[in-house]
Amino acid sequence: MKLAGHRINSSVEIQTLLTQLVEKVTAENQTVETIRAADPSWAEQGKKWIDQAALVRGRPLQYNYVGSGGGRGCYVELEDGSVKLDLINGIGVHLMGHSHPRLMKAAIQGALSDVVNQGNLQPNHQYVSFLKKITEIAGRKSKLKYGWLSTCGTMANENALKIARQKISPARYVLSFKNAFAGRSTMMAELTDNPAYKVGLPEYHEILRIPFYDKKDPRSIETSLNVMKAHVEKHPQDIAVFSFEPMLGEGGYRPAPREFFLPLLDFCKSQGIVVWADEVQTFARTGEFFAFETLGIENYIDICTIAKTAQVGVTLYTEDMNPKPGLIAGTFSGATAALTAGHEILTMLDEGFMGAQGKILQIHRKFISMLQRLQETTCRGKIQDAEGMGLMIAFTPFEGKKEQVDLLLKKFFDKGLIAFSCGKDPVRIRFLVPAIIQDKDIEVAGKIIEGCLIEGV
Ligand SMILES: Cc1ncc(COP(=O)(O)O)c(C=O)c1O
Repeated sequence: MKLAGHRINSSVEIQTLLTQLVEKVTAENQTVETIRAADPSWAEQGKKWIDQAALVRGRPLQYNYVGSGGGRGCYVELEDGSVKLDLINGIGVHLMGHSHPRLMKAAIQGALSDVVNQGNLQPNHQYVSFLKKITEIAGRKSKLKYGWLSTCGTMANENALKIARQKISPARYVLSFKNAFAGRSTMMAELTDNPAYKVGLPEYHEILRIPFYDKKDPRSIETSLNVMKAHVEKHPQDIAVFSFEPMLGEGGYRPAPREFFLPLLDFCKSQGIVVWADEVQTFARTGEFFAFETLGIENYIDICTIAKTAQVGVTLYTEDMNPKPGLIAGTFSGATAALTAGHEILTMLDEGFMGAQGKILQIHRKFISMLQRLQETTCRGKIQDAEGMGLMIAFTPFEGKKEQVDLLLKKFFDKGLIAFSCGKDPVRIRFLVPAIIQDKDIEVAGKIIEGCLIEGV
C-alpha cells in the first residue's frame, strides 16, 4: 500500500490540479506587465493599507508599499494599483522574482503537507530533502558537511556563534570587520557595527574590529592583518571565531579580492581561530552558490550561514565543528512551503545560473555597464563607484549623503523603481537584482536612474 503522504505527492490528479491552479494564477498575473502609476480607483484603498500598516507597527513603512499579492518576474503590483520594478526583492529573498510558476507550484505542494511548520523534533521528509540538497551543494567544494535549519539569518548566525564558541571554549571574543552586519538579536546587534541599530542597548565588549579592504589604500591588506594580529596578541587564547561577510553587505556593498582574505584566513588557521563566513546575503548571488567559492577560499571555511534566497536559515558546518547535543535546537525549522520552494530554488540555480558564462554574471556585467555608461555620459559626477559582486550592485550618488540618498530612493520609488540604501559614509544605493531580470528591464531601470539623477534632489 502506498503511504498517504506519498500519494499526495505523486498523485497524477493532484499534480494536474496543481498545474491548472498555477496556470490560472499565472494568467491572472499577466496584467502585471510593466511599471504603471497608481490607479485612481485604488489609490484610496491603497492609502488605507499604508495607514493601517503604520498604525499596527507603531511607525510608518519605509516606502508606500503594500503588495496586492500579484506579481510577474521583477514586477510587483501594489494595493494602490501601481506596478513597480522590484530590484530589492524583500532585501534579497525573491531571487527568482515574483510569482515564479515553478516556485508557486513547489510552495503549494509543500502546503499540502500535514503541517504548516516543520521542526527539529518531528521533521517531515521535506526537511531532510532540503538539508540533503544544501549540504550536497556546500560539500561540492568545501568541507562543510552538516546543516542546521532555522527561520532567519539572525538565528542561523546565533547557532554559528554558539558552535564556534563551544569548539574553542572558553574563548569569548569575536573578530569582525568594521561596518559588518549580522542581524538583529542582542548578540547579532553587538556583532553589527552600526550604532544606529543598538541605541540604548548595553555594550558587551566581545567584538574586536578589523578594517575592511580599502581599494584606495595600497597598504590596506597589511593594515588589516596587523590589526588582527594585534587583537590576537592582546587576547591570547580568548578569540573564538573570525566572522566575516565575503563582501560587505549592509556596510556598503564593498567587494574585496582574494588576496585580502588569504593572509587573514591563514593567520586565523595558525591560531586555531574558527572561520565563519556569513553568506546570508551573498549566498547564490555571486555567480557561484557561495561567495567563498567565487573567492577561492573554500578550504578555510569551518562554518557558513545562509538564509534569504534559501527561504530558511541554515548553519552549515564541518565534521570537526559538529556541536555537542543540546547546543542548538529550536521549535521551528521553517514552513513546509518554504522548504519545498527553497529546494526548488536550489534545483533551478543549477540550471544555467552559475559560472563565468552563467546568467548571474551576465546580468552583473550588463547592470554594471548600464551604470558605467550613465557615469561616463549623462550622469557624469552624479554616479560614482558602481561595483559589487554578481547580483549585489551599488553606486554612490552625488556626495553620498544620507538625505540625498533618501530623497533619490523616494524619487525612484515614485517613478516605479524599488532600490535601497547601504553603507554609512558614503551612503550608497544598492540593488539586489533578481536572477530572472531581462535586458529590457535593466534598460527600464537605467532610464529611471538617469532621469532622477539628472533631475537632482
Ligand atoms: C550578512 C547578513 N547577516 C545576517 C543577516 C540577518 O538576516 P535576517 O534578517 O534574515 O535575520 C543579514 C540580513 O540582511 C545579512 O545581510
